[in-house]
Amino acid sequence: MRLKDKVAIVTGSARGIGEAIVRDFLKEGAKVIICDILVEEGRELEKELQGKGFDVYFSRSDVSSEKDVKELIEFAVNRFGTINIICNNAAVNIPGSVIELTEDIWDKTMNINVKSQFLVAKYAIPVMQRAGGGSIINMASANSFIAEPRLSAYVASKGAILMLTRAMALDFAKDNIRVNCICPGWVDTTMNDAHAELFGGREAVLEALPSIQPIGRPIAPMEIAKIATFLASDDSSCMTGSPVIADGGIMAGV
Ligand SMILES: NC(=O)c1ccc[n+]([C@@H]2O[C@H](COP(=O)([O-])OP(=O)(O)OC[C@H]3O[C@@H](n4cnc5c(N)ncnc54)[C@H](O)[C@@H]3O)[C@@H](O)[C@H]2O)c1
Repeated sequence: MRLKDKVAIVTGSARGIGEAIVRDFLKEGAKVIICDILVEEGRELEKELQGKGFDVYFSRSDVSSEKDVKELIEFAVNRFGTINIICNNAAVNIPGSVIELTEDIWDKTMNINVKSQFLVAKYAIPVMQRAGGGSIINMASANSFIAEPRLSAYVASKGAILMLTRAMALDFAKDNIRVNCICPGWVDTTMNDAHAELFGGREAVLEALPSIQPIGRPIAPMEIAKIATFLASDDSSCMTGSPVIADGGIMAGV
């Protein structure tokens, strides 16, 4: 119970890595707000987890909208009284080189992946300051360090998240608010489907995976969730501004 009675918001958590983080935070004793634009999936997850006795609510919030983010923070405070943990996990991954991408896709990627983390932090940090501290976990990527072909907007957004994490860590260390990010390698979620299509599909990527990701298999969402729980908990109390690389060895050979 490393997060007993802590209040957490996990964005982009109706499925994938975010869903695994919600499950692990709850198992460790936290109260959790699931946030996503996928209403059906979010409500279903809320129902399943409430049925198991967990203190958890779903909020339909578009994290690229300032109005929605303000309402999300108010929702969490109204439900649970405070906020101790934020996991900024929501993102989109729309593949393309810069000549393939439209301005709309560029803006959408930056707004959902990066501006959202700024907005959630902007409105959650004053609540954390009043609570005496907190932990913010931004979902970055191995792509915060290494690029990939035909993924320009996504890798640019993930590079920005690394530096936003460090900037926030410097600004709020004095308030006992720690800000770290996780940099996963290839996790087998629906997010990767469109990019995989450009390289022969998901099966072809899985076959080629050992030559890209030395552990030779996809990372499971729960393996990333365990790192989020570590960063959310006091077990990581001396860590702030740190990228935690969880890439199955990709960068060991770079
Ligand atoms: N899958 C991987 O290989 C991988 C690798 C490195 C990093 N990541 C990162 O992990 C995080 C989770 O990705 P995933 O693989 O679970 O993908 P996913 O697509 O399953 O999950 C992303 C979630 O974000 C939600 N979302 C999208 N736009 C939103 C918005 N405007 N407001 C609120 N929610 C929104 C989606 O509905 C979805 O539920 C992302 O930040 C991603 O960049 C994933």
